[in-house]
Amino acid sequence: MSTIATSPDTLSTPDLESVRAEFPALLTEVHGKPVAYFDNAATAQKPQAVLDRMERYYRSENANVHRGVHTMSQLATDAYEGARETMASFLGAAETREIVFTRGTTEAVNLVAASFGKDFGPGDEIILSEMEHHSNIVPWQLLSQRTGVRLRIVPVTDDGELDIEEFRILLSDRTRLVALVHVSNSLGTINPVRQIIADAHGMSVPVLLDGAQATPHASVNVQDLDVDFYCLSSHKMFGPTGVGVLYGKAEHLEGMSPWQGGGDMIERVDFAGTTFNEIPHKFEAGTPHIAGVIGMAAAADYLENLGWDWIGQQEQDLLDYGTKLLSAIPGLRIVGTAPKKAAVISFLMGNAHPYDVGTVLDRMGIAVRTGHHCTQPLMKRYGIPGTVRASFAFYNTREEIDRLAEGLERAAGMLS
Ligand code: ALA
Repeated sequence: MSTIATSPDTLSTPDLESVRAEFPALLTEVHGKPVAYFDNAATAQKPQAVLDRMERYYRSENANVHRGVHTMSQLATDAYEGARETMASFLGAAETREIVFTRGTTEAVNLVAASFGKDFGPGDEIILSEMEHHSNIVPWQLLSQRTGVRLRIVPVTDDGELDIEEFRILLSDRTRLVALVHVSNSLGTINPVRQIIADAHGMSVPVLLDGAQATPHASVNVQDLDVDFYCLSSHKMFGPTGVGVLYGKAEHLEGMSPWQGGGDMIERVDFAGTTFNEIPHKFEAGTPHIAGVIGMAAAADYLENLGWDWIGQQEQDLLDYGTKLLSAIPGLRIVGTAPKKAAVISFLMGNAHPYDVGTVLDRMGIAVRTGHHCTQPLMKRYGIPGTVRASFAFYNTREEIDRLAEGLERAAGMLS
């Protein structure tokens, strides 16, 4: 992978312009203007290091994994299993076999629901929250329909924080699992997951975290958190789409049955009965997204080389600057004002529909997401149809936020 560009006067601080130059898609012009890409929570742009690594696999290493004696298959297998080591280290997992490759966070949650949740039943409860993404709601609803397990929902405060007192009331000896989002995609709220995990473990209840919006922004250490399951999506952390990770403590994964059958997940197949491969392979049926897994590991390496301190400072600056500028726009209301937030600003402009605001901004080359952001229960909680959402990444600039603020002033004039 390429090394991270550094400014001439320091060897440790990345230079923003050089970092931006590593993301070819940031050069795209939209309606004749360079894109100001503020839809990073939906999917982030990819650095050249990721693109190069995936191309190298397809150009010179392309072969199936775990299947061939020939050299190219061994190269592909080494790269694929090397990526598992990278992702284990990225998440601070105790063991490489605790990393299961999935299609993304959604599939990771579905896997846990289908396998870990299959013995839940009437009288059992799972705790979710009002700020969950649909992908951490619907798999549990499907499980509830199958097994009778009851879903209990932690409410969200006006500011966009979890009501922790209510969480503690809901936590009981009926609770079989707590499944919560680490960082809210719609509000940016960073949830107090360390405290939540301690409380849940105090009642011997395991915890699953949806980390899709956390891993692009900060270092996550699953052992330090002592979390039981952690899910992430590569494409939100500057890697390819269609691939992600389910981290699970080995003690849980060992006890879980497979959820999909096929090649690679078996030890021996006989019509009289089949025995299954060891973890994590037991959960990886069929030819995996090999190039995607390798690209995801390149993205993880890229982030670690860039450095979490710099990423954190850059994003905090963008969040503070953006919040100050947007708050000063007459009629603009920010939805989600928790004290601890990732670099996400969701807002409404007077009575203008978010879709109309997004369309006007697009004409100015500014990419934001509009709508319910796959969190319809949260929108219902606030009594709104959706929001306009600007989600920042470390490669965004204050100048781009100036363009957003100017665009919103103009949109306000046009839509009022
Ligand atoms: N979950 C993604 C988002 O928040 C798609 O935009």
